[in-house]
Amino acid sequence: MPAPERERSGGAGFAGAGSGYERRLDGAHQGAKVPALPAPGAGMSRQKVTVVGGGNVGATCAQVLATRDFADVVLVDIVENLPQGKALDINQMGAVLDYEPNVVGSNGYEESAGSDVVVVTAGVPRKPGMSRDDLVTTNEKIVGSVTEQVVSQSPDAVLIVVSNPLDAMCHVAKNVSDWPKERVFGMAGILDTSRFSTFIAWETGSSVKDVTAMVLGGHGDQMVPVVSATTVGGVPLRDLVSAERIDAMVQRTAKGGGEIVELLGTSAWYAPGAAAAQMVSAVLLDEHRVLPCTAYLEGEYGVDGLYMGVPVKLGAAGVEEVVELKLSEDEQGAFEASAAAVREVVGVLGTAA
Ligand code: NAI
Repeated sequence: MPAPERERSGGAGFAGAGSGYERRLDGAHQGAKVPALPAPGAGMSRQKVTVVGGGNVGATCAQVLATRDFADVVLVDIVENLPQGKALDINQMGAVLDYEPNVVGSNGYEESAGSDVVVVTAGVPRKPGMSRDDLVTTNEKIVGSVTEQVVSQSPDAVLIVVSNPLDAMCHVAKNVSDWPKERVFGMAGILDTSRFSTFIAWETGSSVKDVTAMVLGGHGDQMVPVVSATTVGGVPLRDLVSAERIDAMVQRTAKGGGEIVELLGTSAWYAPGAAAAQMVSAVLLDEHRVLPCTAYLEGEYGVDGLYMGVPVKLGAAGVEEVVELKLSEDEQGAFEASAAAVREVVGVLGTAA
């Protein structure tokens, strides 16, 4: 899809006084910052996304969004020069991959003002031997302070949380922002489903494009791959693969994050960054996609007052609807056990409602 026409500031020829081109050169000479985005409303027709946390997941998310070419991206991190450097690199990739990037790196939130969507990836990732829940105290403080600043600069945004432990961090973001549940939700299910789908494609020798799967529940080892709703090319998984092999794939999916942490010494980032970008796209393009996301439940799936991974319809307003799948008895039991595990972590939050 061609990028919408954008008006660049200056307008006095491509190297004229005050043009974006000249400011870019200035920035390069000073070894300094990429030029500021025009103020909201100053001729910008593209929407604006802020990604907080310019580490592995955040930078990957910014990169994927930049290549999709429909939104400007602000990358915020507390580490000096890190978001500026990554933004510069992603902008320069546009010349190779043929997209029109406008990525800005910043150590503050002014650049992010008026964002349509904000993705929060700030926080500490896991190290080998750690569970996601071990991160709760550190990341609660980070996500809380990030949310306060997001709210002050982008009061009408949709907030997508990625930091772990994910379900609990959604509670922190919702409680601190005091925004409606439709505008505060989390990324986990798309990633967990991508892992399950990959294993199914390998097991059945099929294209991953033909696998339809859904992983629900909390983003922990008790997540719930919904086997009853899983198909390959429309054929139920249970007709294609033995119960034993399905169980092995379910187990590998549930421990899929840990498998990568053991290999890399830190969390995964390619699939997580892409998954967050997919959610941003669904909102900014008002796609009404049904995707597994971490949403605040008020009675759906028999759970009340808790963030859990469920299929939702995602569009411009955020979560437009929680889609209620008919789970088997076993799956419903596993969902409830997963909810109990999430409640335990939420219970230790200082900001818990
Ligand atoms: P990372 O360490 O590469 O990046 C985190 C970044 O956050 C760092 O650059 C750090 O400087 C920044 N940061 C820390 N405090 C900040 C603050 N107050 N304001 C702004 N930036 C701040 O970690 P990575 O791998 O990118 O993971 C980020 C988070 O995402 C972790 O909590 C990780 O567990 C989580 N994660 C969640 C997934 C999910 O499915 N929901 C999947 C993968 C990771």
